[in-house]
Amino acid sequence: MIEFYPQIRFVHILAISLSGSLFALRGIGVLAGARWPQAALVRYLSYTIDTVLLTAALMLVTILPSAMFANHWLTVKLVLVVAYVALGVFALRRGRSRGTRAACFAAALLVFIAIIGIARMHHPLGWLLPWA
Ligand code: HEM
Repeated sequence: MIEFYPQIRFVHILAISLSGSLFALRGIGVLAGARWPQAALVRYLSYTIDTVLLTAALMLVTILPSAMFANHWLTVKLVLVVAYVALGVFALRRGRSRGTRAACFAAALLVFIAIIGIARMHHPLGWLLPWA
């Protein structure tokens, strides 16, 4: 399957761009008091994109040699993905006050950027690596 690695990586990155953009738009919509971010169509679109993202991610994990994950960047990334999802739930749905939703939205975006840094650098320190 290694011959499909570039295409699968491309699909993963495309899905990440779509997923992050949709989350950012929905978060702004929620903070503006709009109802469309919770519409069934928007939610199903989000589930579909995230399923593609995760499927491609799992395929990449299967294809790549385990030595590539020796410094545990993938483990740290997965922990942050869980944090991102939890913060996203509070930003879009479960946050009781507007302040809580805004804080969770900002934190989720920061975690998302941190995840990209870890993925790019292949290192748990992510974007901070050049300063380490
Ligand atoms: C919010 C969720 C995620 C984001 C923002 C994200 C981000 C990225 C980015 C930007 C890359 C490309 C790195 C490069 O340029 O080399 C990448 C690659 C990768 N991601 Fe993700 N990812 C996410 C979720 C996941 C999950 C859940 C897994 C594992 C189950 C995963 C596993 C991988 C693997 C194995 C690669 C390949 C690294 C390489 O080819 O160099 N990702 N990810």
